[in-house]
Amino acid sequence: MSSRRRIVLLGATGSIGSSTLRVIEGHRDRLELVGVVARSRLDELAQIARRFDVPHVGLYEPGSEAAPERLAHLLPKGARFYRGIDGVSELAATTGADVVLVASSGTAALRPTLAAIQAGKTIALANKEILVLAGRLVTDAARTHGVRLIPVDSEHNAIFQCLDGAHPRHIRRLVLTASGGAFRDTPTEQLAHVTPEQALAHPNWSMGPKITVDSATMANKGLEVIEARWLFNVTPGQIDVVIHPQSIVHSMVEFVDGSILAQLSPPSMTFAIQHALLHPDRAPGVVPTLDFSQVMRLEFRPCETDRYPCLALAREALAAGGTATAVYNAANEVAVAAFLARRIAFLEIPAIVRTSLGTIPVREASNLEEILAVEQEARAAADRLISR
Ligand SMILES: NC(=O)c1ccc[n+]([C@@H]2O[C@H](COP(=O)([O-])OP(=O)(O)OC[C@H]3O[C@@H](n4cnc5c(N)ncnc54)[C@H](OP(=O)(O)O)[C@@H]3O)[C@@H](O)[C@H]2O)c1
Repeated sequence: MSSRRRIVLLGATGSIGSSTLRVIEGHRDRLELVGVVARSRLDELAQIARRFDVPHVGLYEPGSEAAPERLAHLLPKGARFYRGIDGVSELAATTGADVVLVASSGTAALRPTLAAIQAGKTIALANKEILVLAGRLVTDAARTHGVRLIPVDSEHNAIFQCLDGAHPRHIRRLVLTASGGAFRDTPTEQLAHVTPEQALAHPNWSMGPKITVDSATMANKGLEVIEARWLFNVTPGQIDVVIHPQSIVHSMVEFVDGSILAQLSPPSMTFAIQHALLHPDRAPGVVPTLDFSQVMRLEFRPCETDRYPCLALAREALAAGGTATAVYNAANEVAVAAFLARRIAFLEIPAIVRTSLGTIPVREASNLEEILAVEQEARAAADRLISR
């Protein structure tokens, strides 16, 4: 029997997915890929499945091209194919994985993640949307089933590493660092006219388009504040954000005695991914780390709130509680897609999020169906605002 840790990777064809493949490639003696999932890009997914000889392959949205004869031609011999959210949930829960790395975009991963938690799998969580949508549901399920949620988002992974089992009463605050995104130095009066191309030119990180736009608006940091609240069970007032243009200090924890611990590494997601997949073990990284023989500057500056209204809106949603963060996330997703499609201007993103939060009543949803219904309502409302 294999002693390697068995990994299911949701979102294998994405940016986190490809960094994960790099980590697995570098540690084939420790890690084995047993399942891969994408949304709809079958050819790319099948190529990964062949490269790693993966026995379980799934698509959230299999199109007509995923016909049996084509699958037989594209997938590794003997591989089983899983269709739709039910299929992906089955793949995550029943295929013998030790760790399910949730790195697909959006909220489709919610059901598969809950299924994996119920089956006792360790969850390495890159996706932040599902905690924003259903943080209480996911963290309660993890507690009930004794499952560990290991953050892969670099800021939260840094905090996880700094906390290292610290007693909650010793924590004064968590300090999330933010690069400030593509427009951190753009005069605010020019923000009304910026283009998708400009928003996608992130100064430090190479990521998928949605999260790169979210970095420019800082909706991403807003999502991360909400994510941190659920992952670390702290109050929103204990979560601060500071601009750190170099993206080398990934986040910090301040303890009650004033000591601050930070985690540093170059801006490559391979560090956080590898940490999460091997935890609590460690092994040499797959890319070079910092070189202190070279001059290096680390700067920190306060976050300008008027430049980043999406961050303040995330805090408002968190304070409102209930389904407000689900509305925040859904409205933002719809608005970002519209901005990327050139249907709205950059500054209309926070406007749509603000109006959606103001018009959809906050509810105390207690189950998945209720939360998903509110999410649909928020998407429809944001769509209507855009079509106006
Ligand atoms: N990139 C980063 O550095 C980074 C850092 C921290 C956290 N994250 C989080 O990690 C997740 C993935 O980010 P990414 O940058 O890797 O995204 P990405 O490059 O756009 O890749 C997204 C992946 O998810 C799949 N996908 C896209 N839309 C989907 C949907 N509606 N339902 C189900 N699957 C979908 C894609 O499949 P197809 O290829 O078939 O479309 C692809 O495999 C996000 O939740 C993001 O917030 C990313």
